[in-house]
Amino acid sequence: MIDASFATIFGREAAVTAAAPGRVNLIGEHTDYNGGLVLPLALPLEVRVAIAPRPDATVRAWSANVPEDEARAELTLGAERRTGGWIDYVQAVTSTLAGDGHVMSGFDLAIASDVPLGSGLASSAALLVAVLRGLRSAFMLALTDREIATAAHRAETEFVGAPVGVMDQLVASLGREGTALLIDTRTLDVADVPMPSGVELAVIDSGLRHQHATGDYRVRRDECMRAAARLAVPYLCALGRRDLPRLATLPAPLSGRARHVVTEHLRVAEAAEAMRAGDVETLGRLWLASHASERDDFEVSLPAIDTLVDLAAADAAVLGARLTGGGFGGSVILLCRAGEAAEAAIRVQRAYQTKTGHAGRVLLPGETERQRR
Ligand code: GLA
Repeated sequence: MIDASFATIFGREAAVTAAAPGRVNLIGEHTDYNGGLVLPLALPLEVRVAIAPRPDATVRAWSANVPEDEARAELTLGAERRTGGWIDYVQAVTSTLAGDGHVMSGFDLAIASDVPLGSGLASSAALLVAVLRGLRSAFMLALTDREIATAAHRAETEFVGAPVGVMDQLVASLGREGTALLIDTRTLDVADVPMPSGVELAVIDSGLRHQHATGDYRVRRDECMRAAARLAVPYLCALGRRDLPRLATLPAPLSGRARHVVTEHLRVAEAAEAMRAGDVETLGRLWLASHASERDDFEVSLPAIDTLVDLAAADAAVLGARLTGGGFGGSVILLCRAGEAAEAAIRVQRAYQTKTGHAGRVLLPGETERQRR
């Protein structure tokens, strides 16, 4: 499909195609820039790219996911400058690669994504990793999957200027569908944690996106750094359960921020253990506790999203639910009894629409997963 679009747009064949998945984070929210654990899962939704090298230093790019009048953009290798537009993600990759000493010529690039933008499913990390994978094969670049993840992370933080942690890029590059990735963001060690049998995941996009989401994310990050400095630790996840009384002595809102991060880090370890033991009831309870902590202590939820989580939790087929991703909008994940996710997600989405007036959208199980069953 993406190679057919490439041929239509550029009037020649693509040389390579590549893809990278979006993700949900099962648990471990806002721990990745605090030296903590995270447990993301690659989704069956992905960004696909097609590429053919050019003999000059021009990059011509086209995206299927933006309005037609903005779909085409160009850049010149060596003259990358941030513009605030979608092409920055491509420029971020080419300038990061050049900075690392990788040699390539210009290229034509077509992009298509079924990871919805702004839904908290890490579409930007998927885009960066897909472009990096495509360029690796087009120009035979010596890059491991782990190096692709860290290059994507630098591209996003240093060039695009989004102060994100490393979780999304790592799972986009190293993750496999159906198997969650337990990441220690301090060491970058990873371990596979398969989804237990007996449960099935559903994802509902709340349809909400907070206007200042990036600014609020930055504020939370700063608050965590200030809390760590006051507690004289290099990062908050260096603290454990026995430090909780100390956290309570911090002024608000730092005490709540720190309590969320420290307890969330502990919940990730418990969740991974529960998944390995097949204890899905405990996993569901941990998701609900994680959401309450995001809502009350870290304050990254929105009232309508709390309603969505409450409606999900009240459904007989649902073991747990929580807001996934950076917050201030985005998607909610539901841990459902196997075979019941599609129906449960539709029930919850309809109840959400009736109660809040926001449409919401079931993203998973999607058409493909429903047909596979
Ligand atoms: C966004 C960021 C991640 C992580 C989450 C919150 O998705 O990209 O690095 O911080 O928010 O857990």
